[in-house]
Amino acid sequence: MKRIKVAVLPGDGIGPEIVRQAIKVMDAAAERFGLEITYKEALIGGAAIDETGVPFPDETKEIVLSSDAVLLGAVGGPKWDNLEFSIRPERALLGLRKLLNTFANLRPAKLYDELIDASSLKPEIIKGVDIMVVRELNSGIYFGIPKGIFVDGDERVGINTLRYKEHEVERIARVAFEVARKRGKKVTSVDKANVLEATVLWREVVERVHKEYEDVELNHMYVDNAAMQIIRWPKQFDVIVTTNMFGDILSDACAMLTGSLGMLPSASIGGKIGLYEPIHGSAPDIAGQNIANPIATINSAAMMFTYSFDMPEVEEAIDKAVRSVLAKGYRTKDIYSEGCKLVSTEEMGDLIAEEVKIAK
Ligand code: NAD
Ligand code: IPM
Ligand code: MN
Repeated sequence: MKRIKVAVLPGDGIGPEIVRQAIKVMDAAAERFGLEITYKEALIGGAAIDETGVPFPDETKEIVLSSDAVLLGAVGGPKWDNLEFSIRPERALLGLRKLLNTFANLRPAKLYDELIDASSLKPEIIKGVDIMVVRELNSGIYFGIPKGIFVDGDERVGINTLRYKEHEVERIARVAFEVARKRGKKVTSVDKANVLEATVLWREVVERVHKEYEDVELNHMYVDNAAMQIIRWPKQFDVIVTTNMFGDILSDACAMLTGSLGMLPSASIGGKIGLYEPIHGSAPDIAGQNIANPIATINSAAMMFTYSFDMPEVEEAIDKAVRSVLAKGYRTKDIYSEGCKLVSTEEMGDLIAEEVKIAK
């Protein structure tokens, strides 16, 4: 029997509600595929600040580092927005990604046909959409130095620095080409090379790495155009590779192609231990109401089986189960359309878990 140790970091807002559903589904998968999964829960974000005074306690770091993979809900919320910047909940997430060296963030935006009416876009625009956003996660403007708010003469100046070393671009480009090889064999590298020198280097390095992947088509696009093209004709994209901040923004846009932000999972890879989390936040506006969509988190857990445990058959089974529950007409509020059956977060989790046990 395969034994798996998962660190579970529910975090804030809807985090605990959605993570609970993912665990139900993982347990169902364990039963079906004969796995033994043990979970260790730890504090992160605002929940950790409230208990310990810091967003990323040492105990959490230890639990994470002794696990095989990490499942995270979300962090942050208005309660902690006015704290000193260095101890805000969001810093924990950045620290966690750095600690794990997960520099490649895969964010698949795939439309389930069943949700064609849930998107705000026309059916013919989105039918068949299947995009993989490969977001660089551990460098760029999120981490570049100098950063901070400084006094500059008689006023203050806020500084962040967009910075990429060649090897950081090279390794993310390689991930993108490898992923593309297993999919539609097309990479669009998104940058702002008409204005930002850091992305002139980005483009050059992507071109260089491409020489090792000539079976994969490569094109370049400026980020402003890309934001427009994603909405105009998303089916032109297969793999999008881009910087940390551009990837953050464009992946939220891609989520709406699939019906809701609550549908988009992610896998962060590149280190020894993978990190799996939905791309959305803690959704304070709906927290505690049992109405959040748990599918992004459930599908993030599904990605864990492929990327951390080399068991794509488990991801496939979970994906099938999600599809089947959607096909039966069950919807959380965010993806609801007329004639469907409205269900809660818990009910959606139960339905998918049941389906994982039985679906072949
Ligand atoms: P958000 O992603 O939390 O919410 C944006 C909108 O999408 C909200 O209307 C929310 O209700 C909705 N939404 C998000 N997830 C949903 C789901 N699963 N089901 C149904 N609806 C869903 O973004 P925000 O409001 O800008 O940020 C809220 C907090 O979350 C902030 O503190 C922010 O820093 C944090 N945040 C954390 C993460 C993370 O932990 N990975 C990501 C983004 C934002
Ligand atoms: C995400 C979030 C995070 C990011 C924040 C909360 C640090 O928006 O995971 O997309 O910007 O990476
Ligand atoms: Mn984001």
